[in-house]
Amino acid sequence: MQLLQEMTLREKLGQMNQLAVGDITTGLHKDTPAGQRFAAGEVGSVLNIKGKERIMALQKLVVEQSRLHIPLLVGMDVIHGYETLFPIPLGIASTWDMEAVEQCARYAAHEATSDGIAWTFSPMVDICIDPRWGRQAEGAGEDPYLGSKVAEAMVRGYQGDDLKAPHSILACVKHFALYGAAESGRDYNTVDMSRLRMYNQYFPPYKAAVQAGAGSVMSSFNVVDYVPATANKWLLTDVLRKEWGFKGMVVTDYASINEMDRHGMGERKYNAANALKAGTDMEMVSEAFFQTFEESLRDGTITMADIDSAVYRILLIKEKLGLFENPYKYLEETAQYHAPKDFARKVTAESFVLLKNQDNLLPLKKEGTIALIGPLSETRTDISGTWSVAQTPEKYLTLREGLEQKIAKSSPTPWGGVGGGGRLLCAQGCNLVDSKQVQDAVATGHNTTPIPWVDSEKAMQEAMDIARQSDVIVCAMGECAWMSGEGASRTDLNMPAPQRRLLEELITLGKPIVLLNFSGRATVLTWEQQHLPAIMNVWFGSECAAAVADVLFGDAEPGGRLTVSMPKATGQVPLYYNQLNTGRHIADDHPEYVIFNSNYLDVTNGPLYPFGYGLGYTTFDVSPISYDGSKASVTVTNTGSREGSTVVQLYIHDIAASISRPIRELKGFQRITLQPGKSQVITFDITKDMLSFYGSDLRYTFEPGDFDLYIGFDSHTENKARITVQ
Ligand code: NOJ
Repeated sequence: MQLLQEMTLREKLGQMNQLAVGDITTGLHKDTPAGQRFAAGEVGSVLNIKGKERIMALQKLVVEQSRLHIPLLVGMDVIHGYETLFPIPLGIASTWDMEAVEQCARYAAHEATSDGIAWTFSPMVDICIDPRWGRQAEGAGEDPYLGSKVAEAMVRGYQGDDLKAPHSILACVKHFALYGAAESGRDYNTVDMSRLRMYNQYFPPYKAAVQAGAGSVMSSFNVVDYVPATANKWLLTDVLRKEWGFKGMVVTDYASINEMDRHGMGERKYNAANALKAGTDMEMVSEAFFQTFEESLRDGTITMADIDSAVYRILLIKEKLGLFENPYKYLEETAQYHAPKDFARKVTAESFVLLKNQDNLLPLKKEGTIALIGPLSETRTDISGTWSVAQTPEKYLTLREGLEQKIAKSSPTPWGGVGGGGRLLCAQGCNLVDSKQVQDAVATGHNTTPIPWVDSEKAMQEAMDIARQSDVIVCAMGECAWMSGEGASRTDLNMPAPQRRLLEELITLGKPIVLLNFSGRATVLTWEQQHLPAIMNVWFGSECAAAVADVLFGDAEPGGRLTVSMPKATGQVPLYYNQLNTGRHIADDHPEYVIFNSNYLDVTNGPLYPFGYGLGYTTFDVSPISYDGSKASVTVTNTGSREGSTVVQLYIHDIAASISRPIRELKGFQRITLQPGKSQVITFDITKDMLSFYGSDLRYTFEPGDFDLYIGFDSHTENKARITVQ
């Protein structure tokens, strides 16, 4: 590349340097110190800047003033949408609808690029089997197969077929690798894992995203084999580039090189050099490359060839995006594009997981008096969920507003009731958590109008007052946006104490209660399952209020299925459906404790709600499996009285192999919609690939023999057939 030949060392290091410009609105003039750095070509990329004018000013400064006119690469955490926010990623995945997943990413790309953003730090594809880790919110859940499908769909959605297209955005697969396996669910904590587990359980989604063409990868904060991923050569070069053929660019996570000394890796200068030599191209924020590489080059710690290959990959990405042809390609449209709200609303409803619906309490009628109670009832800034960096909360409805609009609508409802007669009363009822310091940190820390801290007794009284006047109580409770997400680990996954206390009071009234459980992870709802007639998990989003209203009143069906196992008690975690068996097996629901067996004294082994589970507003039946030697089929029938969707799931179990294999593994799924009384034949090809695994030699192998197939509506289905494949 000609350009590379013309660059000075400082210019090269500038390309490898990414800075956070946050809210810097001043200081970008070329005569200020910050401006001079951009004009001198000392910065190749920025993150945390929003607004076309500001980005334009920066890009112009760089392109017009710097010697070689190399455009900036502008990145942002566009994690589940831009201003239009789809459910958090765990929610998007809960749709099991890969077209919708891809479409969410496509719309996010369009919105973000039309506001000047070229690069998104998404998809986050870390497998997570421990919901104490708050970042379970940002991934697709616990399953490598589903996680791979979601990863591919997101990369396709972001990048399209051509990175040069005006609204393609560069994807960044993160966090490579194993970040979701932080010990004890505490963010940034140690990871220690066997290679077999990496290859079979944790690597597949990263690999799938890379093979789908993701142009960049972000390394993770954690150690892998006792070396921080940031400088792990085996990971970033041997696996990523050599084994998987990744040709794109690797960026560190935020200031992770500066954190390496705390991992016990010694001096910053050597850490930076090791990160480069391991395969890192760009450094996020901490400027260790920029500040130490001149010296490292002089003393031979690194070579110019090391630097050149990193810079080459960065320039290549800029070239692929078309930034050299037109540095302003994302800045030329005058109008800001917005994703269609009705799509966001539909996909949000499709993500909700209905966990319990005793005596078909849901859908509700748009009549009578409804009490909306709980800390999430009236928030505008928390409704979109964690990592909503570009959010415009002033444009979003609160839950209260969403429900009010719905019951004010005087149209006949699908089940015969008539809207227009309903009355909504609303009260916060309690604080999110008992600690004001924690509530302030999670709420105020990220919000202009946080959920208020209230006097507990007074708030409880207000809630009880309106509950007494009501026919039905809808509780909007659980986690506010930043009670999950980065740095938001929890040791107790139960409903936070003040919210539980309020529920305990409310049930004494004997009125029907619907719990809307806002969460960014699998939580523990054992008490709620015992005491409340209806529970639905909702996963935020800018159209969440409207979608909740649609689903509560039956204008839409809750379409989601869990992509994480929901435990009965926090002490069960990590709890995941695709575990290995033990030699002392006890059935998930075995009613009694059995000594010297693999079980607990205090809870049964299984989850409260299994992976893949979720109810709709109709019911489905599945026939026994027929297998013709290469295809497995079932007939699925809608046995209820309204149109509905379900997700037909295929699991396999390898009965005997050279290494212990999971008791079940998801290998296929199809989302279908059927009219009442109608049936559809669902067929899955049974391929050798889906029966293969990484063996002790870390080669992907097929071992012939007997396999059990399961096809049904969740990971606990007993609809089974045994097959033999030679
Ligand atoms: C740190 C987070 O771990 C990562 O996911 C994010 O993309 C960067 N910060 C940039 O905000």
